[in-house]
Amino acid sequence: SISYDWRMYRHDIAGSIAHARAQVNAGTLTEDEFSAIEQGLHEIETEIDSGEFEFSTELEDIHMNIETALTKKIGAAGAKLHTARSRNDQVATDTRLYCREEIDQLTAHLTALQSALLNQADKYAAAVIPGYTHLQRGQPVTVGHHLLAYVEMLERDKARLADSRKRVNICPLGSGALAGSTINLDRQQIARELEFDCITTNSMDAISDRDYIAEFLFAMALTGTHLSRLSEDLILWCSSEFGFATLSDAHTTGSSLMPQKKNPDVCELTRGKTGRLYGNLVALLTAAKGLPLTYNRDLQEDKEPLFDSIDTLKLALMVNTEMIADMTINVEACQAAASDPLLLATDLADYLVKNGVPFRQAHELVGQAVAESVKTNTPLDQLDLTQVSEHYGPDAKEVFDLQKALAARTNPGAPSVENVKAEITRWQGKL
Ligand code: ARG
Repeated sequence: SISYDWRMYRHDIAGSIAHARAQVNAGTLTEDEFSAIEQGLHEIETEIDSGEFEFSTELEDIHMNIETALTKKIGAAGAKLHTARSRNDQVATDTRLYCREEIDQLTAHLTALQSALLNQADKYAAAVIPGYTHLQRGQPVTVGHHLLAYVEMLERDKARLADSRKRVNICPLGSGALAGSTINLDRQQIARELEFDCITTNSMDAISDRDYIAEFLFAMALTGTHLSRLSEDLILWCSSEFGFATLSDAHTTGSSLMPQKKNPDVCELTRGKTGRLYGNLVALLTAAKGLPLTYNRDLQEDKEPLFDSIDTLKLALMVNTEMIADMTINVEACQAAASDPLLLATDLADYLVKNGVPFRQAHELVGQAVAESVKTNTPLDQLDLTQVSEHYGPDAKEVFDLQKALAARTNPGAPSVENVKAEITRWQGKL
């Protein structure tokens, strides 16, 4: 596994130093031996940082590579490091430290993407577009409202990461191979030194638990779902059929054949890579499902999916942040699409309701008006509604004032421009 687990070298070294310090208190290492171990490990870290360190596949994994190099460097003291420890509690510790660091980084990347979306939402808070259900025009919203929906999703993604971090940040070191050790190290002290919140309480569970990886992979997979939906929206918006948005040349590509093409590759790759995020989650769950307690080498299969999801998601978040920041909204095309009077058919039904017509009947009456509009090829707002039903007054036409219709959507969560602006202020404070 050295070809991929080498990337946990800093975490492995931090864990070893904490373990060695606890050994001094337990009397299995002298102060001098500890200092030699600490210094030797720091040197190894610098060598790996600079690319000088020679990894050996014969030594299997990062744990054996570092320990062997240490003993080569400092002699007998190095051979004492592994007292009261197994690679089983060691790898669990390293992986938890690694996940914790990556959760924190991903959280920052999510905030950056939220900020990019928020800036665009602010700029286009009042730009009306149709909102869709079934990809059919439904009711008017604004670009700001639409983009803020993604800010909300990403906030939940961060909350999921924060929640999974609680179960990641628990120290398994001291659990040994599966049954602890007859040499009692101060596990609380080790946990404090490594900034874990607490220690695990069952050695068998501690070394074979991979729930925290599954949770983290799930959180990343769901973020992938959100990014993929955003991608799909942008792909639609950038098509000639919609024409709502334009992405910068840096985030689109030409075709090798068709000179006019401006393909939204970043969106398509983001959407495509979501498949990997799902695959990695399923790979981990499947690898873990048939294992008797405790450690089995199958568990080594946890790391490649984990690393791949982290790399994939981090890249997607960074590129999407740039792409969103560079995106232009074509306000006129948005306005033209939103000016379809059919978007206000529901408002017309609401008008009838306000005049005492039961909603089901109002729905039917408006349906008749829509059918009439289609049949006679007359826009809904130009029909003489008073001819369609006695329930319409001459003021029915006022329903078709788009700005007024939007402004009337003042309930919490609804897209009146005033609401959207208040939400933008709230998010600016929060982010
Ligand atoms: N490279 C191994 C892993 O990732 C480390 C633990 C090995 N333990 C063992 N008992 N063979 O799981």
